[in-house]
Amino acid sequence: MSAFFITGTGTGIGKTFVTAGLLRVLRPQGASAIKPVLSGYDSAPGSDPALLLEAMGHAVSEKAVAAIAPFRFAAPLSPDMAASREGRAIDFAAALSFCRQAAARPETVLIEGVGGVMVPLDDRHTTLDLMAALNLPVLLVAGSYLGSISHSLTAMAALAQAGITPALVIVNDSGTGEVPLAETAETLGRFLPGQAIATLPRPAQETDFVPVAGLLLGKRETAA
Ligand SMILES: Nc1ncnc2c1ncn2[C@@H]1O[C@H](COP(=O)(O)OP(=O)(O)OP(=O)(O)O)[C@@H](O)[C@H]1O
Ligand SMILES: [Mg+2]
Repeated sequence: MSAFFITGTGTGIGKTFVTAGLLRVLRPQGASAIKPVLSGYDSAPGSDPALLLEAMGHAVSEKAVAAIAPFRFAAPLSPDMAASREGRAIDFAAALSFCRQAAARPETVLIEGVGGVMVPLDDRHTTLDLMAALNLPVLLVAGSYLGSISHSLTAMAALAQAGITPALVIVNDSGTGEVPLAETAETLGRFLPGQAIATLPRPAQETDFVPVAGLLLGKRETAA
């Protein structure tokens, strides 16, 4: 049993892209993913759960989506707001229990978070509370756009306050071309001594995920 929580410094940073890439590499050894909470859900192709199902080699159906993404809402708002638009609220305890059950499966389980580190899930809890309660190794996906170093260090400070040190930070090329990827990772490393940091180019190919998956499995052994 080994599971990881994939969070990010913000929405659209590459969490699904990274999770799907890792799934493809880890699939032969057994890997699956869930996306417990998502807003802005549309059943058209290309949703996060659909991409994760495809990366797992599963057919995409509403039933399959519901099985890996039970708390999904249509409005492109934070999950608490999106749920309230439907007269609903996310049951934090139920979301936690869903994640715990998935994490207990024998294969490597990747749990994709929603948006950034402190996205509100209900009136009182953010994703940070979910990560803290789960106590699983965390992967933080960061970017390389101008401003991402501050966003990344801020996210790390929030995680640290909750007692979380990410198993791995992945600096995913934002494709803006403003700031060199390697320099971003080096700078983060100077401010985060001892932190494992990997980079991913854009466009990333399947082979780019192989070393990242290797690092991840190494962390699993450490975490076990
Ligand atoms: N390294 C990369 N190479 C090529 N495309 C990338 C890369 N990283 C991200 N993308 C693309 O950038 C877009 C945003 O990434 P993604 O959907 O994975 O973000 P996210 O963090 O999962 O967003 P959300 O908060 O909505 O879940 C997607 O179209 C994805 O395919
Ligand atoms: Mg996503």
